[in-house]
Amino acid sequence: MKKVVISTGGGDAPGLNAVIYAVVHSCSRRGWEVYGSKSGYSGFLDMDDMVQLNLRSVEGIYSTGGTILGSTNKGNPFAKPILNLAGEVQVVDVSDRIMNNFRRMGFDCHIAIGGDGSLRLAQQFAEKGMPVIGVPKTIDNDLEATDRTFGFDTAVSTATNALDKLHSTAKSHDRVMVVEVMGRESGWIALYSGISGGADIILLPEIPFDMEKVCAKISDNELHDKHYSIVVVAEGAVEKGGQVFDKGSGELGREEKILGGVGEWVAQEIRKETEKDTRSLVLGHLQRGGSPTNFDRLLALRFGTAAVRMVEQGIFGHMVALEASKMEAVPIAEAIKSRKKVDLESDKVLTARNIGICLGD
Ligand code: F6P
Repeated sequence: MKKVVISTGGGDAPGLNAVIYAVVHSCSRRGWEVYGSKSGYSGFLDMDDMVQLNLRSVEGIYSTGGTILGSTNKGNPFAKPILNLAGEVQVVDVSDRIMNNFRRMGFDCHIAIGGDGSLRLAQQFAEKGMPVIGVPKTIDNDLEATDRTFGFDTAVSTATNALDKLHSTAKSHDRVMVVEVMGRESGWIALYSGISGGADIILLPEIPFDMEKVCAKISDNELHDKHYSIVVVAEGAVEKGGQVFDKGSGELGREEKILGGVGEWVAQEIRKETEKDTRSLVLGHLQRGGSPTNFDRLLALRFGTAAVRMVEQGIFGHMVALEASKMEAVPIAEAIKSRKKVDLESDKVLTARNIGICLGD
């Protein structure tokens, strides 16, 4: 008999519930117990936030968005900000309490489902002696050591649907529509949705853009009797010599900057330079919502079951990864070494260029 605990950390992504479903089903077939820690590590600090999961509690959840356990991107237990009695913010390290509670509750393994930030924490706990297995989640697809993260395909599909819808209104009004998509410092969502959604221009964080080139493409469209244009901008895209648009971290305990605003800035520049009617919109958290696509559902179910097989084989400190269509175990340390960027020599980038999409360079 084994006792496994799952947590979901960082921004949510479609497919989280499918992983939980797969872990609970795989464990209960082996006669093991599964617990869920709510909101990242809260369950390790407060027993009310530790829930036992069974087949009943996960019934039908594989097709739903979000996470039944809740999530947070403000939950670093190694530097947790708390308000002291004087009302001042104090940063405390509660990781030893978590380790003690993990042992006291008799867990054999922690399956940590998360992106870069959550897997960094998982690695820190692995170094403290916790048997941890990581599962790669993020709509941004920016984790190294796995071909894909779950959640990405759904986000791309949402963004592509939005672009499809924008074509008719842009065309009716002879307008430029600028769409800002998520992805932080990686342009995966922008590139995949932009190519599939018929964008004229795609601006990626990996290629600092030149506004002159962007406006030239719009003017070229006009010359070729195409009086509307669609521009996809990744939230982390940067003008040559410019800076990322960030709004600061803004919230207590949040370590990552909130990105956003580049889409509206690009729209203003286009309006000034080309005198075309230009509108911008931010797809934002729509990209994180809704049911996982079939691809993400299957990937998440495969990740969850593979993670349980790793528990059985005692492969800890590793993350389950998709490599050339197979489930593999890779050290968590490999996955968090750096953020995975779009390869500018890849055939996807060539595809974009070959069909006449301007990448701002
Ligand atoms: O990492 C996932 C992500 O959705 C990023 O694409 C985005 O920048 C960020 O999270 C938004 O975070 P929040 O939900 O805290 O606004």
